[in-house]
Amino acid sequence: MTNPPMIALQDAIKKYDDGPPALAGVTLSVASGECVAILGHSGSGKSTLLNLIAGLDKPSSGTVTVDGTRVDQLGEAGSAKYRRASIGMIFQFFNLLDDLTVLDNVMVPAQLAGMGKGEAKRRAIELLGSLGIDRHAKAYPQRLSGGQRQRVAVARALMNKPALLLADEPTGALDSSSAEDVRRLLLDLNSEGQTILLVTHDVQLAASTARRTIELVDGAVKRDVVNDGSGAGLAARTPLTRPAGAVG
Ligand SMILES: Nc1ncnc2c1ncn2[C@@H]1O[C@H](COP(=O)(O)OP(=O)(O)OP(=O)(O)O)[C@@H](O)[C@H]1O
Ligand SMILES: [Mg+2]
Repeated sequence: MTNPPMIALQDAIKKYDDGPPALAGVTLSVASGECVAILGHSGSGKSTLLNLIAGLDKPSSGTVTVDGTRVDQLGEAGSAKYRRASIGMIFQFFNLLDDLTVLDNVMVPAQLAGMGKGEAKRRAIELLGSLGIDRHAKAYPQRLSGGQRQRVAVARALMNKPALLLADEPTGALDSSSAEDVRRLLLDLNSEGQTILLVTHDVQLAASTARRTIELVDGAVKRDVVNDGSGAGLAARTPLTRPAGAVG
């Protein structure tokens, strides 16, 4: 028997108002320990997909299951609890709280989850140390470079040991050297077993960070391929999804 997937979407559709659907029936599964890049042009539905997986939004129809939880069926409180327990998120613009120190920013998720302050502080300092920014623990985010801020955001995302790390354009606001730091950080985390979904429009970033790339076009999965690591992964296509209607 194979393990159940970490993420499973079955025919997930998301419609807003009258326009074309943001997601037009997405079926995919991601195994524990995978690092998958979600690639696609602006408006192709990448953030919508992450939001459904994070329980921040509900599909209009279809199912979203993460780590055995039917995320699409959670109420507001259940969904917040699910996010605290299972999901770490990082974003293009860091979303740090400017009036909290680096250390306090990183401690927030643990405190929301009810972890004691002493334990939260120990874990936050340990994480900041492993990301090489512990000497900035008492600084406020505004004093940090973009790359340093993104490291803080990664530490915060990892605070509750999430089953799943969701990253939405995490290098989009960074210079190339900081972007490379964050890329390596994601690679290291994945090599330690962290499951990661990385949203990007950068083909090279996708190919050099993730083993697998899913490309969205107009809210649908256009391609689902294994990267060969050379950056030419999208050329050498190896479909991973079974065609609709396949049995077994
Ligand atoms: N809250 C909303 N209300 C109405 N339409 C929305 C909403 N959120 C997203 N959309 C629409 O859904 C589609 C997909 O948006 P989404 O944000 O998922 O794209 P994206 O691939 O993340 O784009 P980008 O690369 O620009 O971040 C777009 O057409 C967008 O306008
Ligand atoms: Mg987006």
